[in-house]
Amino acid sequence: VHACGMAAALLMFAMREVLVILARGGRVRAAAAAIATGRLAEITTTVGVLAGIALFFLGRWPLTAWLIASLALIALLMLVERRVVSSWQQRAKASLDSEPSRPEIRALMADRRALVGRLTNIAIFAVIATLMTLKPQFGLAE
Ligand code: HEM
Repeated sequence: VHACGMAAALLMFAMREVLVILARGGRVRAAAAAIATGRLAEITTTVGVLAGIALFFLGRWPLTAWLIASLALIALLMLVERRVVSSWQQRAKASLDSEPSRPEIRALMADRRALVGRLTNIAIFAVIATLMTLKPQFGLAE
């Protein structure tokens, strides 16, 4: 559940970027699909992280170097999400709920700060998935 949930969430975050690109011309349906995909990815992430926490306790995992590094990256991910991405997501949702004009959609989909935030989080997500799969010890004994 954990690994599949995280892989599905990563795929959906990438899909959101494709939909955002399609919505840049002002297409309302593509923008609505981008926002819905983002919301679904957030829910999948929550389920996947909860499964990860369960896995940690049920599997009696020690706090390994890769796990500590991942937790630090997760804190960074949450910070970027709170400070940058969720406000964009909320603005876009509010705009879509009120019959937006094409220029309004265009401006929202081209928001550079939100783009940097979303791409940063996709990169962090991929690094965490790599760390959790390879489980490197960084030269430390377990
Ligand atoms: C963005 C967050 C996360 C991502 C992308 C992620 C991704 C992954 C991936 C891809 C694996 C590899 C599964 C395998 O090798 O079979 C894994 C394993 C694992 N994850 Fe996560 N994870 C995340 C968050 C967490 C959290 C919050 C915890 C718990 C504190 C956690 C605990 C674990 C444990 C203990 C394993 C090892 C399971 C095993 O190999 O048997 N993960 N994770």
